[in-house]
Amino acid sequence: MKGFFSLFVFLVIFGSVRGDLKLGFYKSACPKAEKIVQDYVNQHIPNAPSLAAALIRMHFHDCFVRGCDGSVLLNFTSSSGNQTEKTAPPNLTVRGFDFIDRLKSLLEAECPGIVSCADIVALAARDSIVVTGGPSWKVPTGRRDGVISVASEALAEIPAPFDNITTLIQNFANKSLDIKDLVLLSGAHTIGISLCTSFSNRLYNFTGVGDQDPTLDSEYAANLKSRKCRTQNDNTTIVEMDPGSRTTFDLSYYSLLLKRRGLFESDSALTRDSNTLALINQLLQGSLQNFFSEFAMSMEKMGQIEVKTGTSGEIRKNCAVVNS
Ligand code: HEM
Ligand SMILES: *[C@@H]1O[C@H](CO)[C@@H](O)[C@H](O)[C@H]1NC(C)=O
Ligand SMILES: *[C@@H]1O[C@H](CO)[C@@H](O)[C@H](O)[C@H]1NC(C)=O
Ligand SMILES: *[C@@H]1O[C@H](CO)[C@@H](O)[C@H](O)[C@H]1NC(C)=O
Ligand SMILES: *[C@@H]1O[C@H](CO)[C@@H](O)[C@H](O)[C@H]1NC(C)=O
Ligand SMILES: *[C@@H]1O[C@H](CO)[C@@H](O)[C@H](O)[C@H]1NC(C)=O
Ligand SMILES: *[C@@H]1O[C@H](CO)[C@@H](O)[C@H](O)[C@H]1NC(C)=O
Ligand SMILES: *[C@@H]1O[C@H](CO)[C@@H](O)[C@H](O)[C@H]1NC(C)=O
Repeated sequence: MKGFFSLFVFLVIFGSVRGDLKLGFYKSACPKAEKIVQDYVNQHIPNAPSLAAALIRMHFHDCFVRGCDGSVLLNFTSSSGNQTEKTAPPNLTVRGFDFIDRLKSLLEAECPGIVSCADIVALAARDSIVVTGGPSWKVPTGRRDGVISVASEALAEIPAPFDNITTLIQNFANKSLDIKDLVLLSGAHTIGISLCTSFSNRLYNFTGVGDQDPTLDSEYAANLKSRKCRTQNDNTTIVEMDPGSRTTFDLSYYSLLLKRRGLFESDSALTRDSNTLALINQLLQGSLQNFFSEFAMSMEKMGQIEVKTGTSGEIRKNCAVVNS
C-alpha cells in the first residue's frame, strides 16, 4: 500500500505535472539538440529579428490546434485532400517555416529521427525571443509530432482579431488557460505586426453603416487611415501593433491599450472587462522583470497544451510532411 502511494506521489511529481514533458528530454539520446537550436537562433535571429515574432506566433498557433504537435508545419497530410492549418487566414507566419526546416536538417544530421518538429518550434520560439531581449522560459521537451492538420480547425480554434472578451476567455479556457494567461500572452503583440485586413473594419465599417469603432482613439484611427490602411480593402500594408517599440519586448503594448490604441478588437477588449483591466494595471505598475516572469509562466502553460508524448504521434523526418 505504502509502495503504491509512493509510486503515485512519484508519478504526480515527475510525470503529469509537466504533462509528461520533461526538462532535458534529449539529454541522453541527442545531447547537443538544444544547443544546436540555440546556436542557430543566436547566429541568425540578430540579422532577422522580425522572425522572432513569426516563431512565437507559430508556436501559439501550433498549440491551439490539436495541441503543440507540429501540425502547423504540415504542407499536406497522407491521404485526404485536406487543406492544412498553415493555409488558414490570416497566416503572416509563412516566413518562419523554412527556418524550422533548416533547424530540422541540422538536427537530423546530428541524430536522425530523435528530435520532434513540435519541440523544435517550442525551443526556437523561446530562444529567438531571448535574442530580441525578451523573457526566457522553461521548455520541457518530449513532444511528439501529430499526423493531422486541418485548415478549418485552425479557423475555428485560433482566436480571431474581432473576438469579444467572452469569446476570448472561453477560447483560452478551452485550452486550460485562464484570463491571466490571456492578458499576458496577448502581450506578445508588443513585437507584433499585422495586415490592415485584420482590423480595417474598425476604421471604415464597424457596424455596417460606414462607421468607425468608437473605442479606438480617433486621432490614431485618422493616422492609420491617412498613412497606412488607406482603403478598407488594403490587403498588403503591414502595421506595427506597438509603433515606436515594435522590436522591443516591453510593457508599451499595455500602455497603448489604455490609450485606446490597441490594434485589434481583441486587444482593446482587454481594457473593458474589470478583471482583465485590473491585470493590465498590475502589470503596468510592476517592473519589466515582473512582466517577464509572469509571461514566462504563461508560455510554459501554453507549451504544454494537449501534447502528445510516449508512443503517440511520431518523430517526423521532414517537418512539412508526415512520415510515410
Ligand atoms: C488573444 C488572442 C489573439 C488574437 C485574436 C491574435 C490575433 C493576431 C492577428 C490577427 C495577428 C496579425 C496576423 C495578420 O495580420 O496576418 C497577430 C499577430 C501576432 N500575434 Fe497574435 N493574437 C492573439 C494572441 C497571441 C498570442 C497568445 C501570441 C503569442 C504568445 C501572439 C503573438 C503574435 C505575434 C508575435 C504576431 C506578429 C506576427 C509576425 O510578426 O509575423 N498572439 N495576432
Ligand atoms: C512546404 O511548403 C513550403 C511553403 O510553405 C515550402 O517552402 C516547402 O518547400 C514545402 N515543403 C515540402 C516538403 O513540400
Ligand atoms: C494564406 O491565406 C491566404 C488567404 O486565405 C491564402 O490565399 C494563402 O494561400 C495562404 N498561404 C499559404 C502559405 O497557405
Ligand atoms: C481531414 O479532415 C477531417 C475533418 O475535416 C479530419 O477528420 C481528418 O482526420 C483529416 N484527414 C487528414 C489526413 O488530415
Ligand atoms: C461575443 O461574441 C459571440 C460570438 O460572436 C456572441 O455570440 C456574443 O453575443 C458576444 N458577446 C457579447 C457580450 O457581445
Ligand atoms: C470551446 O470548446 C467548445 C467545445 O469543444 C466549443 O464548442 C466552443 O466553440 C469553443 N469556444 C471557443 C470560443 O473556442
Ligand atoms: C459596410 O458594410 C455593409 C454591410 O457589410 C455594406 O453593405 C456597406 O456597403 C459597407 N459600407 C461601406 C462604406 O463600405
Ligand atoms: C487582395 O485584394 C485584391 C483586390 O481585391 C485581390 O485581387 C487579391 O487576391 C487579394 N490578395 C490577397 C492575398 O488576399
